[in-house]
Amino acid sequence: MKNPPTEALREFESTGLSVCQLANNDDLVRAKSIVDREFDSLLASGFFLNEEDKPDAREVRMTSETSFFLSELAWFLESQTYRTIVDLVAQIFEESFDLFMERVIITLPESLLPGPVSTRFYPFENCEHGNLSEFLVPRARRLSIFAHNPWHNDYIDFPDSDADFVSVLIPLSDRSGQRAPLYGCPESFRLKQRFKSDEIEIDEENVSVEFEGVKHHFKRRRLELKFGEFGIWHALNLHAVYPNLDSSPVVNLRLNFCKTSSKDGLLDSGYKREAYRA
Ligand SMILES: [Fe+2]
Repeated sequence: MKNPPTEALREFESTGLSVCQLANNDDLVRAKSIVDREFDSLLASGFFLNEEDKPDAREVRMTSETSFFLSELAWFLESQTYRTIVDLVAQIFEESFDLFMERVIITLPESLLPGPVSTRFYPFENCEHGNLSEFLVPRARRLSIFAHNPWHNDYIDFPDSDADFVSVLIPLSDRSGQRAPLYGCPESFRLKQRFKSDEIEIDEENVSVEFEGVKHHFKRRRLELKFGEFGIWHALNLHAVYPNLDSSPVVNLRLNFCKTSSKDGLLDSGYKREAYRA
């Protein structure tokens, strides 16, 4: 890693957010080619349901059984890259922990959204979420496909958890320029609170939330993750993915790890894997 593990660890401990560089990209190159192939195939056949497809087709949700990651990228969980990430998380948690969610996350270019779907998800500022799942054909729902992801913390994905987990985002394509800009608010996890999208105020520099009658302002930091780097943040750190105004998708692997002693809030235990035992 460019950041020696101790440096990444120190940064995470003080801010709840860190960017690390992997020493070797081979596993990411392999994962990218597999996801790219699926993406191109979906692009040819169509990502989106037709109006006449509803409502039955809309009931097909991703499960651990249909997950693209677990069927096509399960090898990644045996890779050197995965072990490097687990080693860093072991230093953060300092006790046994598990991988409890693994996904391929894609932010589609705005230009690929059909008109009626685009109307629903733009402008970005008016949206509570950017998950395109209900508009996608079942095959596309094996991936997690977004238009964007407004300000939130990852606790909202697992509301029944103890929020004692970390998210790891591994880009398979770079996130510079207008390519789904990713922002985080270092130290926001210290509030230990979950906020709804309408409780979060945003201006050019700051993200603000009110808690127990006090307004808290956090500087936002752009994470221009490059291929070969990964971001890691605490479940309660505020972050957002802005729309992808580029012409190609922004693809990532996302892993979530939680202490074995904590509640993961998972509804489908098929996603869960033992990661590290102290
Ligand atoms: Fe998130």
